Amino acid sequence: MNNISFHTPVLLKETIEFLNPQPNKNFIDCTLGGAGHTLSILEKTAPFGKVLGIDASDESLKIISSHIKGRDLEKRLILVRDNFVNLKRIVEDNNFHEVGGILFDLGLSSDLLESSGRGFSFLRNEKLDMRFDDRADIPTAADLINGLKQEQLADIFYRYGEERRSRRIARAIVSTRQKQKIFTTGELVEIIKKALPIRNKINPATKVFQALRIAVNHELDNLFSAIDQAIDILNKNGRLAVISYHSLEDRIVKNKFKNNESLKIINKKPIIPSREEIVINRRARSAKLRIIEKI
Ligand SMILES: C[S@@+](CC[C@H](N)C(=O)[O-])C[C@H]1O[C@@H](n2cnc3c(N)ncnc32)[C@H](O)[C@@H]1O
Repeated sequence: MNNISFHTPVLLKETIEFLNPQPNKNFIDCTLGGAGHTLSILEKTAPFGKVLGIDASDESLKIISSHIKGRDLEKRLILVRDNFVNLKRIVEDNNFHEVGGILFDLGLSSDLLESSGRGFSFLRNEKLDMRFDDRADIPTAADLINGLKQEQLADIFYRYGEERRSRRIARAIVSTRQKQKIFTTGELVEIIKKALPIRNKINPATKVFQALRIAVNHELDNLFSAIDQAIDILNKNGRLAVISYHSLEDRIVKNKFKNNESLKIINKKPIIPSREEIVINRRARSAKLRIIEKI
């Protein structure tokens, strides 16, 4: 089946191999995105297996919904716009049981980065929003940038971006916003560039943008809670696969999987993409896949 969005699924072959979807089994995709993994799962679980596909953002849900409309797939793919932190409630609401496998493919899809207009990319000049769900009643990136104290900003950049020059950036932001508020990604990038001369090829805004996105969406707390919920929901012998893209996420996944007597770790070392995959899809370069089976 073809991709139906710009997003190229990461570690697709490996994820499917280890999740091992079988005919008529039910799966949950907690981060549906462009549905790359889900469409593959649906192929393997035909004719009656279902996928509960969850995403907080609307962009790809709309595309997928129109793609499956009027086709057989419409009966087998249940689309839910919600945050996976509410996983148990979503499963109950949809009466979705007997779950053979659950997938989290964390972070951003290419669709969100390229065309959401919500300021995820430092290469575009857009409103500083960064909420995955633009209906969510939570502070946006602009709210944090203009409202937090200097030390709080530095703390976010350091903790979630592992940015060692966090204090300098926070100081530059506060000194700018005293003159005028900061509303766009372009303004923020300019402040960062002035505060930090480019030392290598990496844009100095990279880490700050990652940090802000994690803070706005409470990504680490949500992941922490959702993994526990996923383990509870899984059937015996069901598998949970998590693809993460930075060390903060991977650490949470690794620790959750470790020392849990109800789980069997399927791969001791995380699975990483082949060189060939990284050449074709640069977004894959930092991906790590970990899988457990519930016993
Ligand atoms: C990397 S993409 C998934 C790509 C998908 N596996 C594919 O192959 O097309 C991650 C998706 O998860 C969504 N997402 C991130 N955090 C979420 C959360 N807490 N709850 C629900 N969806 C979330 C994002 O909106 C994004 O669409």
